[in-house]
Amino acid sequence: MASLQMNSPIGRNALDDAGTDAIVGKPLDRVDGRLKVSGGARYAFETQQANTAYGFVVEASIGKGKIRSIDSRAAQKAPGVVLVLTHLNAPEQGTGNHREAHPVLTGPDVTRYGQPVAFVVADSFEQARAAAYLIRIDYDQAPGKYALRDGLKQARIPEQADAPAADSAVGDFKAGYESAPVQLDVTYTTPLQSHAMMEPHATLAMWQGDRLTLHTANQMLNQGREAIAKTLKLPGENVRLVSPFIGGGFGGKLWVNADAILAAIAARQLGRPVKTALTRQQIFHVTTHRSDTIQQIRLGADADGRLLAIGHDVFSGNLPTEQTYEGAALQTRTLYAGANRLTRHRLAPLDIPVASSMRAPGEAVGLMALECAMDELADKLNIDPIELRIRNEPAEDPEKHVPYSSRHLVACLREGAQRFGWQNRNARPGQVRDGRWLVGMGVAAATRGNPLRHSKANVRLGPDGVAIVRMAMTDIGTGTYTILAQIAAEMLGLPMERVRVELGDTSFPEAAGSGGSFGAASSGSALYEACDALREKLAGIAGMDPATARFADGSIASGEQSTRLTDLVGAGVDADGEIIPGRTSKDFSQQSYGAHFAEVGVDEDTGEVRVRRMLGVFTAGRVLNAKTARSQAIGGMVFGVGAALHEEMTLDPRFGYYVNHDLAEYHVPVHADIPAIDAIFLAELDDKSNPLKSKGIGDLGICGAAASVANAVYNACGARIRNYPITLDKLLAKLPAEA
Ligand code: MOS
Repeated sequence: MASLQMNSPIGRNALDDAGTDAIVGKPLDRVDGRLKVSGGARYAFETQQANTAYGFVVEASIGKGKIRSIDSRAAQKAPGVVLVLTHLNAPEQGTGNHREAHPVLTGPDVTRYGQPVAFVVADSFEQARAAAYLIRIDYDQAPGKYALRDGLKQARIPEQADAPAADSAVGDFKAGYESAPVQLDVTYTTPLQSHAMMEPHATLAMWQGDRLTLHTANQMLNQGREAIAKTLKLPGENVRLVSPFIGGGFGGKLWVNADAILAAIAARQLGRPVKTALTRQQIFHVTTHRSDTIQQIRLGADADGRLLAIGHDVFSGNLPTEQTYEGAALQTRTLYAGANRLTRHRLAPLDIPVASSMRAPGEAVGLMALECAMDELADKLNIDPIELRIRNEPAEDPEKHVPYSSRHLVACLREGAQRFGWQNRNARPGQVRDGRWLVGMGVAAATRGNPLRHSKANVRLGPDGVAIVRMAMTDIGTGTYTILAQIAAEMLGLPMERVRVELGDTSFPEAAGSGGSFGAASSGSALYEACDALREKLAGIAGMDPATARFADGSIASGEQSTRLTDLVGAGVDADGEIIPGRTSKDFSQQSYGAHFAEVGVDEDTGEVRVRRMLGVFTAGRVLNAKTARSQAIGGMVFGVGAALHEEMTLDPRFGYYVNHDLAEYHVPVHADIPAIDAIFLAELDDKSNPLKSKGIGDLGICGAAASVANAVYNACGARIRNYPITLDKLLAKLPAEA
């Protein structure tokens, strides 16, 4: 086992030596691409098991109150029905916040609209669904608080154990702001959002005695196993999660959802496998969402645009029993210089479904406010928005007072400006026309924290010359299979087709999973260490010095001597690797960076907004695969266009439910909304981050993207819309009169 704790920077290592033949970094096609387009990749709901029964979730149709009675007699007599689970016959379960446990059907209390109140199981999904509509439930309704704006008075300081402190103060914000020659005080709002991933949440649950196997769509299998074990009161080792393919998650599958627990309970009671999937409509209420936010930004600057005071206050909402808050002011603690700083988060208790992580929790909506406020300040000062950002580039992290591990925001801004043709932008809004379109350009900075998490990996080289990589990592569509294969191929001197990566099973070594932009770095580093250990073993068998041995073309060589690896491994040789976060994450401020450039057209009469061009320039350490990295970045930028212009769950404040709970009315960008988008990564190695010298990119693309679009809308037509999304009804009244 090669175990590395990241306590000091990484020196020159095997990946640095690969040179121009390097496999890591190449824009290779996905190794699982053919399986996916040919239907060979089995997702949770597609897993087949004999004698499977199917479950359908029944949702509460009130926002808050109590179940007075449930009449399930008709459902029980309906064709094919084998079980109706309600709180009257569900087992006692372990409890905790939504990250720790997911108890279901625990009693008559209804805490939110869409809470599962029954689970109907039948021989077919259609029978279960038909029977579900026969269940009659009477409720005693209680008054609920649903809209964020109605919960502000009760908002409290959140105490989320695994998140930074809700408040941070440096210097004297009040004095710095009040004495600043130029002041900006603006409030932005962002709406409730839903992950809208492609694959619905689904689970197949099977028991063998008191051992449970779940084929389930889940981003973090080891964490999921713990939560399921806690909920079902089982030892962790009795629970196995299998999730080799996941059709997107964006955070919506980070935690265990009702599908997994309901299927497990029903399968145990019935003594047969139970499968279930949420319908598209159910996903909106039954699973998590991103809270809406109210964000006040106060910037104080001198006449040259140097920030003297930065204030960012954020309200978000969650169930009274949850502490998870939308950390929208967190990046404001590190992005720009300034002596006097105040950032605060408040959490309003609301009686709506659990709010949790959605792609770039914190930055995604925080930068929608901060990076527009910077644009407003630039406008007020008559300074170019890129220049304003450059003038506020910090020499060290302004709150932690430690150096940045690496930071090239200015290079991203400059490179992007040149490539995008920023010099052609007219700083005065409403001046550029193309027929009936008012045309404008906008810029925004991108930044995202770069976390590392504990992970393990195993790699085995067999007598057939094929290396098999195993870990309980997931690939949610990002390209994890591919980059792990590249790392193993590089390290062991094998062609890509001689590496097989097996993921998505808790019987493999524990891994971080996919989330928070920590997936590739954490799993890839564990694999790097495993390969390093295997190299050492192989060199030992070959009688060579591991420090000078070269691995290429399926051979190990040292000096004149060269041996085929297949001649060394006998029945097979394997090694384990492990990465453990350490001091470099405290001694250095670690973020990835970028700059977004957008050009939009605003219809002079209707206010219709069309994105015309977009460019993202990023730095995120070593790029592990230029193609999948670019796809990730572009996907994030598309997500940003949606956040700026389309996405919004509309809450009915009387009843606490989302009116537009389907993809017909919850608008995400479609092809017609997305023009040519390009994303590039500037060369960078971050030796403080991990052995790969990479940084996370899963979230970076969305960070700041929406703000660049909003700033372009302002530049196009002079209308500053501070409540997202920027829909044409909000623009209409503000369009230039002469247009
Ligand atoms: Mo991401 S919100 O951590 O899946």
